[in-house]
Amino acid sequence: MSHLRIVSIALGLLLLMTPLSMGDDDGDDEREDDEGFEDMGEDLGTASAWLLGLTLAYFGWKRILPQIRKYLKTTEQKAQLKQLNAWNKKVLPIHTLLGIAALVTGAIHGLMMDESSILLWTAIALMGLLSVSGALMRWKWPPREVKKGARLLHMQRLMSAIVVILLLVGHEMV
Ligand code: HEM
Repeated sequence: MSHLRIVSIALGLLLLMTPLSMGDDDGDDEREDDEGFEDMGEDLGTASAWLLGLTLAYFGWKRILPQIRKYLKTTEQKAQLKQLNAWNKKVLPIHTLLGIAALVTGAIHGLMMDESSILLWTAIALMGLLSVSGALMRWKWPPREVKKGARLLHMQRLMSAIVVILLLVGHEMV
C-alpha cells in the first residue's frame, strides 16, 4: 500500500505546485480582475494534462511488461521478477487513481476558465465514460455482459486517442 500512498501524496503536491506553463495567455490583459482565479484554473489544467498523460502511460507499461518479464526470466533474476510482479499489482490501482484525478481536475479547470468549447467538454464527457467503464471492469458486482461491454468500451484505444485529439484541437480554438 505504501506505493499508493506515495502516489496520492505526489498527486496532491502536483496539484499544489504545478508550474504556470501550458497556459493560454490570449486576452489575459483584459481580465485583470480575475487573473488570480484564471491562473489557478490554468494550473489545474496543467495538472490535469500531466495526470492524463500518466494515466495513458499505462498503455505503454502493459506493452513493455512482457519484455521485461522475458528478460528477467532468461537471465534468471528471480528476486527482480518477484519485485516486478509485486509492483505490477499496484499499477492498475494507480491507473485508476490517476484517471479519476485527471477527470476531476480537468472538469474543475474547465469550469474555472472563461472560454469553453463543445470539443473540450466532449473530451471531459469521454473521460467520464472511460472512468465509468473502467470502474465497471474493476468492480466485482456487474454481470458478465456488463463487464464485457465496459471492457470493449474502455480498451478501445480509439476513445483515449479521441480524448487527446479533442483536447489539443479544443485548446487551439479557445
Ligand atoms: C481519463 C481516464 C482514463 C483513460 C484515458 C484510460 C485509458 C486506458 C488505456 C489506454 C488502457 C490500456 C488499454 C490497453 O492496454 O490496450 C486502460 C486500461 C484499463 N483501465 Fe483505464 N483509463 C482511464 C481511467 C480509468 C479508470 C478511472 C479506471 C478504473 C476505475 C480504469 C480501469 C482500467 C482497467 C481495468 C484497464 C484494463 C486493465 C488490464 O486488463 O490490463 N481506467 N485504460
